[in-house]
Amino acid sequence: MKGKDLLSISDLTAQDVRSLMSETVGLKARGWTSLLSRKTLALLFEKPSLRTRVSFEMAMRQLGGQCLYLSPAEVGLGKREPIPDVARVLGRYVDAIAARTFSHHTLEVLADFSGIPVINALSDWEHPCQALADLFTIYEKKGEFEGLTLAYVGDGNNVANSLLLASALVGMSFRIASPGGYQIPDTILDQAKKYADDSGAEIFCTEEPSLAVKDADIVYTDVWTSMGQEAEAELRRRVFTGYQVTDQLLSLAKDDAVFMHPLPAHHGEEVAPGIVDSPKSVVFDQAENRMHVQKALLAQILGGLEISMDDYRR
Ligand code: CP
Ligand code: NVA
Repeated sequence: MKGKDLLSISDLTAQDVRSLMSETVGLKARGWTSLLSRKTLALLFEKPSLRTRVSFEMAMRQLGGQCLYLSPAEVGLGKREPIPDVARVLGRYVDAIAARTFSHHTLEVLADFSGIPVINALSDWEHPCQALADLFTIYEKKGEFEGLTLAYVGDGNNVANSLLLASALVGMSFRIASPGGYQIPDTILDQAKKYADDSGAEIFCTEEPSLAVKDADIVYTDVWTSMGQEAEAELRRRVFTGYQVTDQLLSLAKDDAVFMHPLPAHHGEEVAPGIVDSPKSVVFDQAENRMHVQKALLAQILGGLEISMDDYRR
């Protein structure tokens, strides 16, 4: 993965994902290292963030590297300056860019013009770093992927797209319940089915939450209105009525099922009040694991594991 972009989960092989998982185990245990000393990451964000910004900043600090946060107002991506120019300028200063953009196409332009690796820190199409942290959290809690079933209830959005692709890659079955018109796009579904043919994962799409959740090992949801869709919030609240994760819905899953959410959560909307704080919830482990998985990702992409293997072993 050295020098490569991560715009989509489909930029990774199943082997890449497994090696990221095992490197994350090591780096999480290790804490602070100097694997990426003299490396710098720019965080270029068009939308707000808590977890992604702080987890990338802390990941770089814990790896001995530097991080620069560039807010939407500062750069004016595509407004103050054309995106290809921003990309080429940043490529002269820093070693990699993690970008959060409205349009996925903006990430592709950054990757095409910057000459340095670009990491998707969330676009309207995918959220691959979240999916990798989610897989790692599942691996920690369940010890495996094959034989598990993840039930996703809600919008077929950026988070769902990456999670479906990641699940299908590693052989974890994926069921999704979404209302008509808010389902996973066909291009993502077709790609996931190809991965599932190789990995043995089963994929099931329905409009009925109870069919998805029955006997599942993991119940996952995300907001009904993503960033950039605020004008649709009222309509979406109506469309998604009946897709709230409640205690009753969760009781259909296996007894040892866990509840997952990428956060931020709207308590009382997509998830009933109290569930985020319940013993089944692993949402804060997911949030913590963003940092650990991104350390492994950055070390791989920026060559830290290769250039400082001695330091890593010490
Ligand atoms: N889960 C996640 O990406 O959170 P932020 O929007 O706070 O970064
Ligand atoms: N689907 C949400 C995820 C936030 C982490 C959004 O795009 O706003």
